[in-house]
Amino acid sequence: MKQKFKSLLCLFLAVIFYFPSFSQSGRTPVKAENGMVVTSHYLASEVGRDILAKGGNAIDASVATAFTLAVTLPSAGNLGGGGFLVYYGSDGHKTSFNFREKAPLAATINMFLGEDGKIKDNSNHESLLSVGVPGTVAGLYKAHQKMGSLPWDELLQPAIDFAENGFESTYNMNWFLKWVKDHKDDELYAATAEAFLKNGKEIYNSGETWKQPDLAKTLKRIQKNGADGFYKGKTAKLIADFMEEHGGLITEEDLSKYETEELEPLEGRYRRHEIIAMPPPSSGGVALIEMLNILEGFDIEEAGHNSAASLHLLTEAMRRAYADRALYLGDPNFNIEMPVEKLTSKEYAAELREGIELKKSSVSDSANFNNAHAQYESPQTTHISIVDKDGNAVSMTYTLERSYGSKIVVEGAGFLLNNEMGDFNPIPGYTDSRGLIGTNPNLIAPEKRMLSSMTPTIVAKDGKPLLVIGSPGGRTIINTVLQVIVNTIDHKMNVAKAVESPRIHHQWLPDRTRFEDWGISPDTRRIYKEMGHEVYEGGKQGQAMGIYIDWENNFIYGAADSRSYDGKAVGF
Ligand code: DON
Repeated sequence: MKQKFKSLLCLFLAVIFYFPSFSQSGRTPVKAENGMVVTSHYLASEVGRDILAKGGNAIDASVATAFTLAVTLPSAGNLGGGGFLVYYGSDGHKTSFNFREKAPLAATINMFLGEDGKIKDNSNHESLLSVGVPGTVAGLYKAHQKMGSLPWDELLQPAIDFAENGFESTYNMNWFLKWVKDHKDDELYAATAEAFLKNGKEIYNSGETWKQPDLAKTLKRIQKNGADGFYKGKTAKLIADFMEEHGGLITEEDLSKYETEELEPLEGRYRRHEIIAMPPPSSGGVALIEMLNILEGFDIEEAGHNSAASLHLLTEAMRRAYADRALYLGDPNFNIEMPVEKLTSKEYAAELREGIELKKSSVSDSANFNNAHAQYESPQTTHISIVDKDGNAVSMTYTLERSYGSKIVVEGAGFLLNNEMGDFNPIPGYTDSRGLIGTNPNLIAPEKRMLSSMTPTIVAKDGKPLLVIGSPGGRTIINTVLQVIVNTIDHKMNVAKAVESPRIHHQWLPDRTRFEDWGISPDTRRIYKEMGHEVYEGGKQGQAMGIYIDWENNFIYGAADSRSYDGKAVGF
């Protein structure tokens, strides 16, 4: 009997230590053997899973998922935006695609400024001028051409079905529908009202079926003609005509000139793991690797998860990397001397570490900035993590910039346009404590891509992908991804716990740290503040979508951040 008890106990302990998902507090990740799709909308995750189940690879599933999100998650899923895709195959092949939006040919450095030199009417965020030349369709098409395995038209069909036959509107959209109702008589938003309101007038209640016939037609043109279905012919004409009629800049020439770049991903190392991330025009990869390099010199595990000691070290790494982000980063096609190699080197991190005191905060070196309230960004971008049956991984983040982008739908085409031009530095030479940056590398120029914080990342070990991660959240994205990685590698959390854990954000300026609501204990906060940090509490940070591959036991674990309303991890 005693022997039996002993064996049972051993079995129990083995299970606990073998499968991290059982042994940790908080949510348990979704577990599967053949593939996993994690996105911010359950319908898109299910579409991705179906594509994988019928033999599609991770790229096929990304394409189908991204087009579905353009229908079911219009706050961020898009045809009219842009993004980045990072790929790591189980055979060690790594690549990335840059389909970030571009400034139109007619854009100018001061295009958002009034005569007083200030930004006119928030026009860099809220006007037709805020729209960059979209990249999403070109990016998905190029990734599929290079690495897809199922026919393109099959990958578009689920999105077309949702647009044509409709799906249940969720509560998540309500605030936007109210906004559209309030603006339906403004001619700039007439097509938005047509697309989003019942009979162009009334709000759909959650649960009611919402159909998007114009969007279905656009998707069919893309299904039939590939990227040309968007950048040439009818869709391009609809966009260009709409721009001309309402005072926008994008022309058919802008659209036909748009190209996706395939780039070598940026590579770093952190405690014997490879970090595969997006190079500029994303600032994400550079800043992430810089921060990890700094943190590698400290014993973060010993300092303890979200202790004041480790929060202090995280903050000091963030402060330094975000300062470099502002000073050096922009579109590499326009800033040929960007010191990416230096910023991501171990030697540079060692130099930066020398300036960090263990119990005292540094000061962000700013001039006489006023003490205005911090401008944190809303979490509306969306991230897709996918692993297929062979263990190939895709980490893709794409966006319209703000929630529902410019809120402007192209008449007759049924999709929303981005407001990504707001990611350029709007006032040359003007940087302030609110987080407005005016440094040179990210000033506006025709055909230039605006700097992004999107940080689709894959962590690998021994030549195989291990953690697939990314998040929305504007400038907070890089810190969200950083903390999920540190939670996984240093604190050995399973992916659900790593994604759920409370997070902090510091971005050099303003010189203060944001803690999520109820995220950090008051005792910890007191000790942290005693080190000299200013703290601001509020809201939630990001919607991380993560997958962890346990190669030894052949399991794939997925977790959609509960900070997202409709997110879901779906495996099979
Ligand atoms: O590319 C970027 O960094 C931003 N346009 C992403 C925007 C985002 O995550 C939503 N929040 N502002």
